Amino acid sequence: MSTDRLLLRGWRESDREPFAALNADPEVTEFLLGPMTRAESDAMVDRIEASFAAKGYGLWAVEVVGGPEFVGYVGLWDPTFEAPFTPAVEIGWRLARSAWGHGYATEGAQAALRYAFGTVGLAEVVSFTAAVNVRSRAVMERLGMTRDPDEDFDHPRVAVDSPLHRHVLYRLASTAAPSTARASHQASSSS
Ligand SMILES: CC(C)(COP(=O)(O)OP(=O)(O)OC[C@H]1O[C@@H](n2cnc3c(N)ncnc32)[C@H](O)[C@@H]1OP(=O)(O)O)[C@@H](O)C(=O)NCCC(=O)NCCS
Repeated sequence: MSTDRLLLRGWRESDREPFAALNADPEVTEFLLGPMTRAESDAMVDRIEASFAAKGYGLWAVEVVGGPEFVGYVGLWDPTFEAPFTPAVEIGWRLARSAWGHGYATEGAQAALRYAFGTVGLAEVVSFTAAVNVRSRAVMERLGMTRDPDEDFDHPRVAVDSPLHRHVLYRLASTAAPSTARASHQASSSS
C-alpha cells in the first residue's frame, strides 16, 4: 500500500534491527511500557506477522519512498485486553525519533483507515493512548477521530500508580471518516 511519500509494506528480516533500535529508545517508548530488549522487539514482529497471516491486516512496516527503508509501523491491531470498548480494531503507530515531525504517522494512518473501511469493511476504528501522550493524540485528532471523555479508561496492563495508567479513547466511524477514507471505501465497495 502506498501514499505520496510512504510505502506501507510487509515486514522484512532487515527491519528487525532498526525496529529493535527504536524500541530501545527511551524517547520513543516514553509513553509505552518502557524500552524493549531485542528479544521483546523480535517477539512483537512475530506477533505482527501472525496477525497478517490470520486476519489480513496488522501493523505495516513503513518505508519512506526515496528515503529510509524502515522508519517504524502504522496499522491496524486487535487489542488483546478487555475494556468496555472491546472487541474493536485499533489504529496505531510507532516511528523512530528521526521520522517524527514530517507528517508520516498521519499520512500512513490515512492509508490504513482506507484499508480498514474499504478493504476490511470495518464499521469503526478506535485508537487509544495514555492521556499524557500528546503527540499520539494529535495524530488521532488530525485523522478526524473523536474522543468522549466519558470513555476514558484505566489500562488494565499499566500499573495503577503509573502516570500512563489513565487512557483516552478515540473513535472514527466509516460513515464519519474524512473524504479520503470514504472515497476509497466507496470505490472499493463498488468494484
Ligand atoms: C506518535 C508519533 C507517531 C507522532 O509522530 P508525529 O511526527 O508527531 O506525527 P505526524 O507524523 O502526524 O507528524 C505531524 C508533525 O509533522 C509536521 N509536518 C512536517 N511536514 C509535514 C507534512 N509535509 N505534512 C504533514 N505534517 C508535516 C507537522 O507540522 C507536525 O508537527 P508538530 O508536531 O510540530 O505540530 C510519534 O511521536 C511516535 O512514534 N511516538 C512514539 C510511539 C508512540 O507513542 N506511539 C503511540 C502509542 S499509542
